[in-house]
Amino acid sequence: MPTPSMEDYLEKIYQLVEKKGYARAADIADALEVNPSSVTKMIQKLDKDDYLIYERYRGLILTDKGKKVGKKLVERHYVLEEFLRIIGVDDEERVYRDVEGIEHHLSPKSILAIETLVEFLKDHDEIKKMLDDYRKNFEDK
Ligand code: CO
Repeated sequence: MPTPSMEDYLEKIYQLVEKKGYARAADIADALEVNPSSVTKMIQKLDKDDYLIYERYRGLILTDKGKKVGKKLVERHYVLEEFLRIIGVDDEERVYRDVEGIEHHLSPKSILAIETLVEFLKDHDEIKKMLDDYRKNFEDK
C-alpha cells in the first residue's frame, strides 16, 4: 500500500503523463509545491516499490502497477470532488484543497458509498433540488 505522500505523487505523475505524455521532476515539484530534492527522493522510493522506472537521462515511466494505482487515485479524487460539489461546496479552490486533505483517509468501501450517493443524486433531480432547498433554509437559520 502506498503512503499518503506516495499517493499524492502517483496521482500527480499519472495526471502529468496523461496530459503531456511524460512527467518531469520539475513539473512534479511545481504541481505539488514541494522542492525538487523531495521529488528525487520520492521518485526513488516509487521506483523501489515498482510503481515506476526511473532513469536519470530518460526520465520516468510508470509501470503497469503504477498506472493502475495512479488511475484509481485520480478517479477517487474526482469522485470526492463531485461529492463536495453536489452537497453544495461551490468554491473550486476549497473543493480541491479539501479533497487533497481527505482522499487518503477513506476506505474503498466508504468511497464506493459516496460514489453511490453522488450517482443517486445525479439520477434524481427532484431529490437533488430538495437537498439544495433544504440547505438554503438551513444556512439561513
Ligand atoms: Co488528489
